[in-house]
Amino acid sequence: MIPQDVIDQIMQSVDIIEVVGEFVPLKKSGSSYRGLSPFTSEKTPSFYVVPSKGIFKDFSSGKGGSAVTFLMEHEKMSYPEALRWLADKYGIELQEEKPSEEVLQERSERESLLAVSQWAANYFEKELWEGEEGQAIGLSYFQERGFRDDIMKKFKLGYCPEGWETMTTAALEAGYDEQWLLASGLTKESNGKKYDFFHGRVMFPIQDISGRVIAFGGRTLKTEKKVAKYFNSPESALYNKSRILYGIFQAKNAIVREGRCFLVEGYTDVVSLHQAGVENVVASSGTALTEDQVKLIKRYSENVTILYDGDPAGIRASFRGIDLILAQGLNVRVVLFPDGEDPDSFAKRVSSTELTEYLEKEAKDFIEFKTSILSKEAGKDPVKRADMIREVVSSIVEIPDQIKRQVYIQECSRLLDMAEQVLMNETNKLLRAKLKRKSKPGDYVTEPEVVPVPQPEPKAHTNKKTAYPQELDFVRLLLNFGKMPIQVSLHNLEDDSQETAPVSVAEYLLFELRDEKMDLHDHTLRKITTRYGESLDQGKFPEDHFFLHDPDQGVVSICADLLTEKHQMSENWSERHQIYPETEDMNLAKAVKDCVYRLKLRHALIMIDEIQEALKTDLPTERMLLLLEEKRHLDEVKRELSRYFGSAII
Ligand code: CTP
Ligand code: MN
Repeated sequence: MIPQDVIDQIMQSVDIIEVVGEFVPLKKSGSSYRGLSPFTSEKTPSFYVVPSKGIFKDFSSGKGGSAVTFLMEHEKMSYPEALRWLADKYGIELQEEKPSEEVLQERSERESLLAVSQWAANYFEKELWEGEEGQAIGLSYFQERGFRDDIMKKFKLGYCPEGWETMTTAALEAGYDEQWLLASGLTKESNGKKYDFFHGRVMFPIQDISGRVIAFGGRTLKTEKKVAKYFNSPESALYNKSRILYGIFQAKNAIVREGRCFLVEGYTDVVSLHQAGVENVVASSGTALTEDQVKLIKRYSENVTILYDGDPAGIRASFRGIDLILAQGLNVRVVLFPDGEDPDSFAKRVSSTELTEYLEKEAKDFIEFKTSILSKEAGKDPVKRADMIREVVSSIVEIPDQIKRQVYIQECSRLLDMAEQVLMNETNKLLRAKLKRKSKPGDYVTEPEVVPVPQPEPKAHTNKKTAYPQELDFVRLLLNFGKMPIQVSLHNLEDDSQETAPVSVAEYLLFELRDEKMDLHDHTLRKITTRYGESLDQGKFPEDHFFLHDPDQGVVSICADLLTEKHQMSENWSERHQIYPETEDMNLAKAVKDCVYRLKLRHALIMIDEIQEALKTDLPTERMLLLLEEKRHLDEVKRELSRYFGSAII
């Protein structure tokens, strides 16, 4: 847990232009900054950052919030990760629980490994571009394969000289400790002699999501079969190969932008596809895909397309692995390449447009793909067909979403020309077996529900399209004009006179809300008004950043939205909601009053509806009379307010 005062300290040190600027090129425009949305692909910039308020707003995707929100959305960090990142950037000490001796040691081990890996990456790169041997052997190898300079640099490709200990000597000279050279696997030891593990190989550094080099793959240039084509760094405190994907650093933005991740097998496939303009691509680097790797992809996109070399045996072998992706709820497609071609060779042979078209046209849904392959294999043989059904269904049961499963069952029933019920029964059987496997003996086993009941998705966050415009407007006025005074007429009960007095917009709004016992329906908006009220009760207006520091990103995002509305989108707002054609700074009192009236009117309409519903049921007479009385009052309010607004606006 990071204490609130530290969170405040972090948030106050943050320069949102600096933070966002690390990821998005920004241009100053008036008091704000603009850029192209990093969340969509757009040609005209509609991404705004307002430094004075510490917020960003992306009008093309609708996302908005603080620097923390940005890191969470763009870098897919968790809330504490984002805070830590910012604390690190601004040199703020995080007084989290004191780390244990063990944690400290592991941290320093990781740091030492990181330092030596970073050094080695630079060393290999320098050798490739500037070393005599590197240029003659490494660089010319890459050039022969058609890799462009800019792409080689993008992936920090390098070369490790042939001499047995050239790199190790250079590292020791540069002051790196032998212990870490050995632990990183860069240096090996045999019969008391140290040597370079990767000597004579071209180097592919493996980077983590923030671009730090944590390991290497080195390809031999020899063609002898007995030499392993690739050497890879061993696992260490720094490098856990099942958690990382080659190319993720270079691909992550494109994956988000394209809404899809291509998955290939090799280092060179990733590099070549980038060169051909397909940047949303990562490789599992030889190992079978792991659950952690799938989760890594899922942080950026729910759609995966696997690119296969067209070898049927290999494809069949990979079926199991793909169930892993399905189990994470991702949508999987596959693209097969013509015989003997891998993504690297194919990308080199065709134009970049042809490549993109091919990837688009040839992509098949995985379940359908699997079904058709197995169906072809099984032919008419009934025993084989029964096996096949089990195989197909075994993939379908991995899909966590019930409705999606149902859709696939229908689809397969069509493809296999087989009754849906048969597939459904098989699915139920496997689901039950799976559930039993998962639960410990003695656990209560519930029957899994297979028949889908479609339900609307609950909305986690407030969003412009779903929240009531009246409520949004209420909170908008509260946040933007809360402190400003307006004159309101007060009814003096003692002598029944009217007088006008200045009150703050916030007091007026919140008083009306409480007085009428109108609660906002939207829970995020309600949270904001409640917290605003609590602050007023303690005698102070909350600052803008009070809400922007909230751990609930729903709150942050809606506040950023509403604060930018005032800043530059007031025209847009009125266009969209037809609410305030006039400049409201000039007519604030009216705007505030209208807002409250509109909310009251809506409240009355809802109550009337509810009462009417209640009156349809069998009620005790007393209760019925009470409701009728209330309804009469509400009808009165409705009439009055409708008259006030004219019939058009409700
Ligand atoms: N691989 C490995 N060790 C090997 C062979 C392969 O780690 N001995 C991994 C590498 O990550 C490699 C991937 O498996 O990138 C795919 O192997 P392969 O298709 O043989 O290599 P390519 O990347 O296609 O390399 P090239 O095009 O240079 O042959
Ligand atoms: Mn290849």
